[in-house]
Amino acid sequence: MTKIKKIPIILIIILFFSSCSEKIYNIDKAKINYSLSQKFENDFLIGAAINEDQILKKDEKSLSIVQKEHNTITPENSLKWMFIEPNPGNFNFDVSDKYVEYGLKNNMHIVGHALVWHSQLADYMNNVKDSTTMYYHIKNHINTLAGRYKGKINTWDVVNEALNEDGSLRQSVFFKTIGEGYIEEAFKLAEKADPKADLVYNDYNLCNSEKREGAINLVKNLQSKNIKINGVGIQAHWQLNTPSLEEIEKSIIAFSQLGLKVMFTELDISVLPNPWELEGAEINQNFKKFEGDAKMNPYPKALPDFMEEKLAKRYEDIFRLFLKHRDKISRITFWGVTDKHSWLNDWPIKGRTNYPLLFDRNYQSKKAYQSIFDLTK
Ligand code: XIL
Repeated sequence: MTKIKKIPIILIIILFFSSCSEKIYNIDKAKINYSLSQKFENDFLIGAAINEDQILKKDEKSLSIVQKEHNTITPENSLKWMFIEPNPGNFNFDVSDKYVEYGLKNNMHIVGHALVWHSQLADYMNNVKDSTTMYYHIKNHINTLAGRYKGKINTWDVVNEALNEDGSLRQSVFFKTIGEGYIEEAFKLAEKADPKADLVYNDYNLCNSEKREGAINLVKNLQSKNIKINGVGIQAHWQLNTPSLEEIEKSIIAFSQLGLKVMFTELDISVLPNPWELEGAEINQNFKKFEGDAKMNPYPKALPDFMEEKLAKRYEDIFRLFLKHRDKISRITFWGVTDKHSWLNDWPIKGRTNYPLLFDRNYQSKKAYQSIFDLTK
């Protein structure tokens, strides 16, 4: 009698433990195999900007994050004019070739950043005074780059940051020499050089109403002339409180109503003080007078828990909105891999310790990562 009773009890115990180990096994498996790009694979691409050290494989720890978590890459600096064509017609493809090779090898969506941009331009370009010379340089630059990586670079930021904050066109050297037509010319040249690549207009502060209107006008102008443009890149160098979710949503809807893919191309969220109300990402702004000011760099050792929470909540809110509009958004790229390498440690004030990304200085995922990962659709 007692023997018969014991058998089912033992059986129940065995079954209980085997189901537990099954659960534990599954959780571990999820941790090992599951990544952000897999999680959002039916929603949008998930990317990172990678720097020269990463491209040259000098930072394997970052690369293992990139390979696991991302399915698209952008070169943080390596394809910019000052590095790739430092003298007229004198191209340096050493790093860019390796960048493209890395993307191809890992089956990633490869972004080219950026063909026509007033910052990080070669010196000779800033000294061009006439439209013929300027057009010649732009044509040669676009033909060479988009031609060399034809069928390999999937998306080009053709024109970067052409707008002022009020939505008018920036008085860049391109504008001063060629006039507003330089934007049309750049897109036409890019299409001709690689007809299959997606072509993007990219800028910061595109969730501010005046600048958003400026971008809409810029796109409509191209479309009215039947010039190909596939997407708008909202850079998304953001703060904890701005821009508001409402303004971000307005931009997603407005750009997608133009028939374009919406991309968040340079996402990072600064957690450091910004008392001068600086918004956006004009890289030539810097605030030397604040360098070394402890008030401007309140977390030099570590980010306190309450700030980690704030950052996680902000990322969660933003990604919830992205998911709501997953039919309109094609790509979300973070501007960097870990906090250690973020440009926001040195911009707009040099030498600060910022925490804008999903991975910390020890290459570990942060609460912000988890808050996005845990979102249900
Ligand atoms: C930044 C890079 O991250 C820095 O390393 C570099 O010193 C300056 O440029 N908008 C853009 C990016 O389109 O190319 C900029 O990248 C950040 C702002």
